[in-house]
Amino acid sequence: MRDLRISVTDRCNLRCRYCMPAERFGRDHRFLPDDAVLTDDEIVRLAGIFVGLGTHKLRITGGEPLLRAGLPQLVARLTSRLPADGDLALTTNGTLLQKLAPRLRDAGLHRVTISLDALDPDIFSRLGGTSLEPKRVLAGINAALSAGLGVKINTVVKRDVNESQVVPLAKLAHDLHVPIRFIEFMDVGTTNGWNHHHVVPSAELIARLAEHFDLAKVHQPDLSETARRYHHTEAPESAEVGFISSVSEPFCRDCTRARLSADGKFFTCLFASGGHDLRSLLRIGADDAALTRTITGIWNARGDRYSEQRAHATPGDRHDKPEMSYIGG
Ligand code: GTP
Ligand code: 5AD
Ligand code: SF4
Repeated sequence: MRDLRISVTDRCNLRCRYCMPAERFGRDHRFLPDDAVLTDDEIVRLAGIFVGLGTHKLRITGGEPLLRAGLPQLVARLTSRLPADGDLALTTNGTLLQKLAPRLRDAGLHRVTISLDALDPDIFSRLGGTSLEPKRVLAGINAALSAGLGVKINTVVKRDVNESQVVPLAKLAHDLHVPIRFIEFMDVGTTNGWNHHHVVPSAELIARLAEHFDLAKVHQPDLSETARRYHHTEAPESAEVGFISSVSEPFCRDCTRARLSADGKFFTCLFASGGHDLRSLLRIGADDAALTRTITGIWNARGDRYSEQRAHATPGDRHDKPEMSYIGG
């Protein structure tokens, strides 16, 4: 349990088709009520317990985490819980980053991973279910770089939707010296209409990118990383290109990631059918020893390997997978 991904809200200001399609997350969608969401005190306390158990990497997710009021204060408190070799990162759609990047950096955040699926404004707005333009995310990327945050770009690739954007995005990342990762569209949740046909296997993208860049595999001793990374052989100082291939090459066997939903459920897998309610324990006054015992017991009993089993499943087989916006990806 080396990594903890903490979702701080289930709300988002975009409606990306692969995550929160507008027709399923419309006006009548019931988001978590405020009192169901963990408070800063509760998040910081749980993070401290996970760190005590060996977690060294915390990642703040959502929904869109920058929508949470007072996020810089929460970041500052989480920073104080990190071990010396700890890592504090945040995954964001980048649209609100221009304003917040300096404050997040001052609070101690190390790095941000910014989702950007297209540079073409029409493709961006169609895929993102938004009237916002990609230049808003580019401004967020620049603000994060200027603030001194580590930056990565995440691009989810969907067949026949944004494949045309892969090479332009790789060029942009190369020019900015920012690592980019291309992510296979995954069957997270039950609302995004996932189908094998929509997945562009990473091997296909690597072949396409090889027509434009000279890429070589990077040696990766840390097996628990999500991405298989490549560097530019002709420009070793340039940033890497990564591929997150949970569909074509599942990486469950080396997974060290625990997840906490915004309402305090502890999930042992992105695709777990249910989470374990830590909020109730916190709110009935459980002490640290009891929380530690509960978390240890759940993690030790873990046998998740959904992505490895997916090949034998039919899309739509399971109706109990948590939504990305709720569990935080
Ligand atoms: P780094 O710490 O920078 O390596 O980031 P990360 O790849 O751990 O996190 P990020 O939030 O950028 O996630 C990238 C993509 O990988 C998202 O689509 C996540 O949903 C997906 N992902 C992260 N962890 C897992 C996992 O354990 N299983 C699967 N199937 N997908 C994951
Ligand atoms: N498949 C793959 N990646 C996804 N993300 C959101 N939904 C999906 C999906 N269905 C990505 C976001 C963000 C990261 C946390 O997960 O774009 O970069
Ligand atoms: Fe980890 Fe579950 Fe993803 Fe496998 S499917 S890598 S166990 S989160």
